[in-house]
This record gives sequence, C-alpha cells and structure tokens, in this order.
Amino acid sequence: MRFFVDTADVSELDKLLVTGMVDGVTTNPSLIAKSGRNILEVTKEIASMVDGPVSAEVTATDYDTMIQEGKKLAAIAENIAVKVPLTVDGLRTCKTLSDAGTMVNVTLCFSAAQALLAAKAGATFISPFVGRLDDMGMDGMELIESIRDVYDAYPTLKTEILVASIRNTRHVERAAEVGADVGTLPPRVIWDMYQHPLTAKGLDDFLADWGKTGQSIL
Ligand code: E4P
Repeated sequence: MRFFVDTADVSELDKLLVTGMVDGVTTNPSLIAKSGRNILEVTKEIASMVDGPVSAEVTATDYDTMIQEGKKLAAIAENIAVKVPLTVDGLRTCKTLSDAGTMVNVTLCFSAAQALLAAKAGATFISPFVGRLDDMGMDGMELIESIRDVYDAYPTLKTEILVASIRNTRHVERAAEVGADVGTLPPRVIWDMYQHPLTAKGLDDFLADWGKTGQSIL
C-alpha cells in the first residue's frame, strides 16, 4: 500500500520526507486555502519535493473550464495528477485528460457506482472519502470493500483505489486489510502510526538495563 500525504503545507511535508514513507501528495482547495499560498506556486514546490504523484484539484465545474484548468495544472510538472470532482463534467474531463496521457484523480466518491463510472472514464485514481461517511454514522470502510470487489471483478479496469478523508490509524489498517492501493494520510496520522505505548515502554526498559551494564557499542 502506498502512502500519500494529504497536505499543502511544505514544512509538514518536508519533515515527513525523511521517513522515506511518502509516495505522493494530495491537495484540495481547502488545503490550499489553509496553506495561504498561491495554488500554482505551492503545487510546483510540492511537485519538486516528491517523485510520486501530486494531486492538484480543478475548481471550475463546467467541462470547458475544467479542461483549461486541468491542462494548466498538468503543465506544472510531469508528476501532477489532475483532480476532478465526481460529476458528469468532471468525468468527461477525466476521460479527455486520461486519453491525452495525464494522470487523473477523481475525488468526492461516495458510492461503488460512482467508482465504476470513474474507472470507465479512465481515472488513474478514485478517491472515496471514508471519514466523511463515518461522520454521517455510516461505515466508510464498507465502501472501500465494495469498490475493491467491483474493480477486482473486472481486471481490465486499472484505476487505483486511493482512500481519502482518513482520520486515524485504524482507517489505515482497515484500508490495508481490504487491499486499497493507496491511502492519503494527514501528516498527524502518519506520525501516529509509529506510536505504541508498549514500544515506548519496552525501549525505556531496554535502555535502563543497558545503562546498568556500563557498556558502549561505539
Ligand atoms: C484528499 O484527496 C481529500 O480531499 C481529503 O482526504 C479530504 O479529507 P477531509 O474529509 O478530512 O477533508
């Protein structure tokens, strides 16, 4: 399972890159707004920091303008994946850009039926939002299982399942259990994945015992 970082904050991304765990980045208009940066400038900077896909989202809602925006975003760097919403015009845009060789991430997916449409439109990634479904009292991860089943039934579909709206480490574990291809994780969730109280206690105990030996490896 590949890990993308869900952020437009270059300082947060920079801290995570040293872990060697980052396979790509996703952004959205809310994250760009939170960064306080110009979308073209910050996207270019992020794309230069990572080798993997960097999703940059269009903000138009009609096909013609989405195509123009998508082409402008794709021209920023070779590793840009243009992100489009799961609408009729969004999937038309997906098909046109995909046919032209551009990576496309279809976002705001909340059903397996929508995921099937995105795959038929040639999406590189489909982004189902698990956290927002959980917020409504539903089980977002059931959607990931359902999409996995649908895609696996048709091996010619090449769209990767990119689990989005991840809120905690359990979401990551469950996404991996059901065979999601990618998860996009807020930086905090990646740091949380390293943590376990028994790891911390075990290390403290080992170091205390080691200190009593008076030895040094170096
Ligand atoms: C990423 O592609 C999505 O836009 C993001 O994961 C949405 O997360 P949220 O539901 O926490 O805003």
